Amino acid sequence: MLNLVLFGPPGAGKGTQAIYLARTFNLVHLSTGDLLRQEITAKTDLGRMADEIISKGELVPDSIVISMIEAKLNTPKTTVGFIFDGFPRTVPQAKALDELLQKHNSKVSVMLCLEVDKLELIGRLLKRGLTSGRCDDADAATIENRINVYNEKTAPLINYYAEQGKYHQIQGIGEIDEIAARLKEAVLKL
Ligand code: C5P
Ligand code: MG
Repeated sequence: MLNLVLFGPPGAGKGTQAIYLARTFNLVHLSTGDLLRQEITAKTDLGRMADEIISKGELVPDSIVISMIEAKLNTPKTTVGFIFDGFPRTVPQAKALDELLQKHNSKVSVMLCLEVDKLELIGRLLKRGLTSGRCDDADAATIENRINVYNEKTAPLINYYAEQGKYHQIQGIGEIDEIAARLKEAVLKL
């Protein structure tokens, strides 16, 4: 199986590029952010809890997002592979993903990290906030916190995957189709 972890700070373009990569390589797209937002829309207990955390720009507890991914991996819709978008967000989540994939006799093929500088990220998120309806895109303080949380809790995953020889940097600035072509090229070289 081809299992891609699409990685990068908030606003790096993970969601946009994951759709493209899923189509190109016929992968199942798993976005924990989208799954959490579906829970919020459906007004479930989990959704109410997630809403509070997400609107502050914080992270939902590992056990919850891991269970969500586990449920998706146990629903066999693909033999080709998955693209993980916005997951893992912490080292424990990455370890859990490795264990879950191992149970399915599979593993993470590569971690593709979209490189975008902080000023560009803030600009993109503020712009997205004008139309996305996402409470976490709405104000500069929440955006700043999301980037800080990324640097503190999520960026350590770069080392986690680098140690396994799976970390690939991709320049995340430019036209959407240019960036998509860079990602495709990196996957084809695997
Ligand atoms: O991945 P995305 O940017 O769509 O996630 C939106 C929000 O969902 C994050 O800022 C975070 O609050 C929450 N989230 C999380 N844990 C994940 C994925 C998303 O807490 N693994
Ligand atoms: Mg996203």
